[in-house]
Amino acid sequence: MTTTKSIDKQYVLNTYNRFDLELVKGKGSLVYDESGTEYIDLTTGIGVTAFGIADEKWVEAVTNQLISLQHVSNLYYTSPCALLAKAICEKTSMSKVFFSNSGAEANECAIKVARKYASDKGYDRYNILTLNNSFHGRTLATLSATGQEHYHELFNPLPSGFVHADANDIDSVIRVAKEHNVCAIMMESVQGEGGVIALQCDFVQAVDKFAKENDILLIFDEVQTGNGRTGKLYGYMNFSVTPDVFTTAKGLGEGLPIGACVVGEKAQSVLGFGDHGSTYGGNPVACAGALSVIERIDDELLADVRKKSEYIFSELSNADGVESISGMGLMIGIKTTKPVSDVIKECMQNGVLCLSAKDKLRLLPALNIDFKLLKKAVEVIKSAVKN
Ligand SMILES: Cc1ncc(COP(=O)(O)O)c(C=O)c1O
Repeated sequence: MTTTKSIDKQYVLNTYNRFDLELVKGKGSLVYDESGTEYIDLTTGIGVTAFGIADEKWVEAVTNQLISLQHVSNLYYTSPCALLAKAICEKTSMSKVFFSNSGAEANECAIKVARKYASDKGYDRYNILTLNNSFHGRTLATLSATGQEHYHELFNPLPSGFVHADANDIDSVIRVAKEHNVCAIMMESVQGEGGVIALQCDFVQAVDKFAKENDILLIFDEVQTGNGRTGKLYGYMNFSVTPDVFTTAKGLGEGLPIGACVVGEKAQSVLGFGDHGSTYGGNPVACAGALSVIERIDDELLADVRKKSEYIFSELSNADGVESISGMGLMIGIKTTKPVSDVIKECMQNGVLCLSAKDKLRLLPALNIDFKLLKKAVEVIKSAVKN
């Protein structure tokens, strides 16, 4: 019999190890397979659908834009692009935004900003320091930036100019930065793909101080941690520091491809005409949807994210079969005694979709997940992790 699975297996390049599950529709934090079985979604398309599936305000914003102007190119002004950039800058006190289509592309832009900043200043610097165990994307430069050797091995030679230091070790950062004369330090506020590990506050503040004292750009990769995910609008806000550049994607788009490289005052004039570009970047439909998302991430929603986070931490920290729990806000990693693949399978059999990050169970529920659904999902997880 011809099924979606068999067609996909035959014609889609085999880069994803998909679950044996075809999802056909959803609403909010519930998704359904082709036979109508319901699942509570704690994956949000890997941190993307921050307001759940088919969120009404987002659908309305996207649909209204779609039927009036879907694309015109960056040769012309369009209001969703301008208004989204304004909203992001006003909410973060940053200065300017470049829009792309993904997290990796947003990081590529940040890398270009850092290199040109140094060259504009007349510094003989081009290396960018990132942290061991980081993840910054799948393009060649962002793979090089990613501080995990196993992502590099098969694709050498990778672009040069990236050096790595240990997270939460300021001596390591300072030593590597000085040794390689770096122009920027880039880090995730919570290492997502690396196992949902939050950076320590004193480390981040020490990196910020060192970077400022040496005119090294501080870049936060907020692709996964941005847009309310950690209980603050952007993850770096948990540490009371101000980056020179931050990048974001995933939750900003709510499901349409978008990435943003957001630049502060210091680097706002670095990229000029012709220095960077993207055919689809700033697309009116993606931007109109993203504007409807960013406008709704207010103090009330963020307080609710933190409340749900506390609930998950308190329920699962001491649960039978849980070794440790990490993360921030609704970005949570759980080290279980059982192999994580078994836990995910059991959760799925009991109607809850979860992710993994390295050897941990990873939860990225919608920011607005209904509390009753969350409680139901936590009970399923508790019983799945039990020895
Ligand atoms: C921190 C971080 N940076 C960059 C990326 C790459 O984003 P994208 O897959 O949209 O290119 C990811 C994706 O998981 C990420 O978590």
